[in-house]
Amino acid sequence: MKAIVCNSYGPTSKLQLREVEKPTPKSNEVLIKVHFSAVNDYDWSMVRGEPKLYRLLFGLFKPKHPIPGMELSGVIESCGDEVTKFKVGDAVYGDISAHGFGSFAEYVAIHENAIVRKPEYLPFEEATALSHAANLAWQGLVDFGKIEKDMNVLINGAGGGVGSIGLQIAKTYNCQVTGVDTGDKLKAMKETGFDYIIDYKKEDFTRSGNKYDLILDAKTTRAPKAYQKMLNPNGKYVTVGGKIGRLLQIALAQHVMKKPVYIVPLDANKDLEQIHVLYESGKIKPLIDGPFSLEKTGEAIQYFGEGKHHGKVIVSIK
Ligand SMILES: NC(=O)c1ccc[n+]([C@@H]2O[C@H](COP(=O)([O-])OP(=O)(O)OC[C@H]3O[C@@H](n4cnc5c(N)ncnc54)[C@H](OP(=O)(O)O)[C@@H]3O)[C@@H](O)[C@H]2O)c1
Repeated sequence: MKAIVCNSYGPTSKLQLREVEKPTPKSNEVLIKVHFSAVNDYDWSMVRGEPKLYRLLFGLFKPKHPIPGMELSGVIESCGDEVTKFKVGDAVYGDISAHGFGSFAEYVAIHENAIVRKPEYLPFEEATALSHAANLAWQGLVDFGKIEKDMNVLINGAGGGVGSIGLQIAKTYNCQVTGVDTGDKLKAMKETGFDYIIDYKKEDFTRSGNKYDLILDAKTTRAPKAYQKMLNPNGKYVTVGGKIGRLLQIALAQHVMKKPVYIVPLDANKDLEQIHVLYESGKIKPLIDGPFSLEKTGEAIQYFGEGKHHGKVIVSIK
């Protein structure tokens, strides 16, 4: 099969499309013919081995998983003997990162618990775009943030995957939503319905004097105290990711700050049923950038890493 292979850390330009052996599923695994994959922060870090601390996770000297990619949609081609949830021909999708990587390839063999059934009304491309970001946005806003009707919400790092779906989830609660990002993304953010937009390169959003009931952060660019000052008396701060140093500060602050501070540990695919309901009723639709061809995955990862993308960067593998 064809796959993007990353045998050593380095620039995305080193990524090559190669012919590798098609995987054989173990007893609890399914073999998926991949239709689409998507680019994530993990790919950008895993391919370059940066920040270096991440090598503890991805492999000290070279990537443990030579094929990157953590989201997919596709069709089951074969099943191991002990698989009970799926059968050959089922359309599936998911964020496979809790069980492995390798979705920039024509086939993936992965544990049956790594994926969910794809409803017929949800196209493959959109399912891929929703699997990680929508789940994370839901867990940030609903599970941890306990979002309520008419709240004043701010999303930092709002132009990417989590922000674009986070906005739509918040709008189902009739919230007023401010998005922080920069560059070309600001125009797309205005068009997709953010009520207020802040360009982080021109304005320090923590000093605007505005107060929020809920802050959802996809970047964690500021110190915990700065976020506390932006919260209403019952406000909450929830982060889904960012630089390790800032996340450590947030983890320590959790115990001393007056207003609640949460770091969301992703529970992959847990809330996709809720996302299906919102999608089917027309309340959410992923913002898709691409698709890039499998051959151009390196370019897609570079484009993502340079922050040029809008929403989810998709790779087509059909
Ligand atoms: N919680 C978990 O278990 C878990 C698991 C996996 C991933 N994650 C994390 O979850 C987050 C996922 O977010 P995502 O998929 O939406 O990422 P994304 O698509 O990269 O979006 C993040 C946005 O933030 C913008 N940004 C960059 N620097 C910024 C700054 N200083 N201030 C404000 N915005 C800034 C980026 O734009 P520019 O770069 O163009 O500026 C980009 O538009 C990532 O941080 C990822 O590492 C968490």
